Amino acid sequence: MKLLIATRNRGKAAEIKALLGSGMQKNVEVLTLPDLPATTEPREKGKTFAENARIKALHYAKELKILCVADDSGLSVDALGGRPGVRSARYAGEQATDEKNIALLLEELLPRPKPWTAAFVCVAVAALPGRVIAEATGRVDGEIVSAPRGESGFGYDPVFRVKGSPKTMAEHTTEEKNRISHRGQAIRLVIEELRNSGMFG
Ligand code: IMP
Repeated sequence: MKLLIATRNRGKAAEIKALLGSGMQKNVEVLTLPDLPATTEPREKGKTFAENARIKALHYAKELKILCVADDSGLSVDALGGRPGVRSARYAGEQATDEKNIALLLEELLPRPKPWTAAFVCVAVAALPGRVIAEATGRVDGEIVSAPRGESGFGYDPVFRVKGSPKTMAEHTTEEKNRISHRGQAIRLVIEELRNSGMFG
């Protein structure tokens, strides 16, 4: 059977593929959006990670008639009242890059007292055409640091120090990150739900 990971974000796709590769049955072919015919993109107009993850999973499941796993995730900073939240990808505007988002985040935090506590949150949803069949949330707590460190990962990883560790997320290997990350937790739970419901035969 085929399973679509609904993302064009290369960092995310690599992490999810690594996660699935380690725990997935041989009879499941894992695809990403570039592997399938072009389709319309959904409007992520939800106010929560869960709403957006459901919108994406249901959209691609219906358009491509396939079992689809989508995630929506982001960074929630306490001193900013939970921002950038669902706007994390486009925090610095429609043409934002990871570097611009990080620069804006540090600019906003600099006048505020430390520690800059924060969390990465991820909601993963699995859907078939017309219905959600599994949903799970993952969360990892930490702190924003004032200078980026590390080369691995993507997004805000270089400025997110994991609680209880001296390392930023970008100083962890993909394998280490998957073990502790918000996305690792959420995707593992969804796959377990799919397996328990007999989806993989
Ligand atoms: P999404 O594609 O709408 O889920 O966008 C999520 C955005 O949140 C990404 O583009 C990143 O800016 C940020 N983000 C989510 N997960 C991570 C992560 O694991 N590391 C760093 N940044 C993340």
